[in-house]
Parts: sequence; structure tokens; C-alpha cells
Amino acid sequence: MGTRETSKLSGWLSTKRGARAGSFAEAAGFGELIVLAVKGTASADALRAARAENLRGKPVIDATNPIADVPPVNGVLHFFTDVNESLMERLQREFSDAHLVKAFNSVGSVCMVNPNFKGGTPTMFICGNDEKAKQTVSRVLDEFGWETADMGKAEAARAIEPLCMLWCIRGFQRNEWVHAFKLLK
Ligand SMILES: NC(=O)c1ccc[n+]([C@@H]2O[C@H](COP(=O)([O-])OP(=O)(O)OC[C@H]3O[C@@H](n4cnc5c(N)ncnc54)[C@H](OP(=O)(O)O)[C@@H]3O)[C@@H](O)[C@H]2O)c1
Repeated sequence: MGTRETSKLSGWLSTKRGARAGSFAEAAGFGELIVLAVKGTASADALRAARAENLRGKPVIDATNPIADVPPVNGVLHFFTDVNESLMERLQREFSDAHLVKAFNSVGSVCMVNPNFKGGTPTMFICGNDEKAKQTVSRVLDEFGWETADMGKAEAARAIEPLCMLWCIRGFQRNEWVHAFKLLK
């Protein structure tokens, strides 16, 4: 796991056999599949610290959301992007050799692996410009217990990132954080 301060992960490391912590650059250099899960406002800085050459040609699961540093209004988060752009597109433009795939941004971390809902298998909406990277992420989603809905190229992140707003509205309303979306066909 990459971090600015490895010492803060000592507790986590002691419970995870085989896990290692390092700088963002060390983690990105080590990984074959990268997961970007940092504060949205810091996501570009984290990738800069990871260094473009460590990301080149690799699938990068982008779980981030463009949440601004202001409080929600009636449970509605404030985004620093607008509806005709997305954080993932910004990152993809800057890190053009990385294969970003939006995924895992609109569900709580406790449900990311082995989701268990009365309503059945939940849907993970994904998008990205590289087909092979999306196939890799779909395989991970299959193994984790999700059904994947590929929404197309990076621009679709304009619709997928705000699902996080919708997901949080329900959370704030009920103070319940265990729910997910499903695409009915
Ligand atoms: N928590 C969830 O259930 C959940 C679910 C879906 C999506 N997400 C998304 O996942 C991302 C991470 O969320 P989180 O809940 O883990 O908490 P967070 O506070 O948004 O992110 C913590 C992470 O951000 C990094 N970070 C913070 N400021 C930084 C900076 N200035 N430069 C570089 N890195 C910085 C931290 O690195 P250090 O270790 O160096 O401090 C840490 O890895 C967010 O974009 C969030 O929207 C979260």
C-alpha cells in the first residue's frame, strides 16, 4: 500500500501477512494492477508522487470521487467538478499512458468484497478507454461477487462519479451505509 507516511500503517501491516507499505512510487512500481483510492482533491498529487512511468500500460482502478472540502447540504455532497467533466477524465488526460478504469467509487468499503444483499447481486458501473484494462477489472469484480456494467469510455465517469452522491444521500438520510445499485434488464 502506498502512503506518504508508512509508520501509520504499522497496525494494518501487523494483521496482514505478506502486505507491505511504501511510498506511492514504490507501491505503483510494484503493482501490476493499481488501485487509486485517495482523497479526491489529492488524487492528481498522489499519481504525480506515484510517477507516470510506474503507471505506464497498467490498469488503474480509480475508486476516487471529486468531493470538495465543504460540508454536504441536506446530505448532498459538493463536487469540485461539474456535470460535463469528471475527475477520471482529468486524471486520464494527465496520465495518458495509464489505463484508468472507474470502479468501486459508489459503494462503501465494507461492501466492496463479497457483497451480500437481499436484493441479489449488485451492479458495479465501470468505464475507461482501454478494453483490456476493463476486462481485467471485470474479472476482479466477478471474483469479488459483483455484476459489471461497462458504460463505455472515460466520459461515462461524468455519470458514474455522481452515483457516489446518490449513494451518500441515502446513507445520510437513514444513517445506513450498506446499500448498492443494481441495473435491471
Ligand atoms: N471509504 C469508502 O467507503 C469509499 C467508498 C468508495 C469510494 N471511496 C473513495 O476512495 C477515496 C479514499 O477514501 P477514504 O475513505 O479512504 O478516505 P480519504 O480521506 O478520502 O483518503 C485517504 C487517502 O488519501 C490520501 N491522501 C490524503 N491527502 C493526500 C495528499 N495531500 N497527497 C497524497 N495523498 C493524500 C491518504 O494518503 P496517506 O496515507 O499518505 O495519508 C490516504 O491514502 C476517496 O476518493 C473516496 O471518495 C471511498
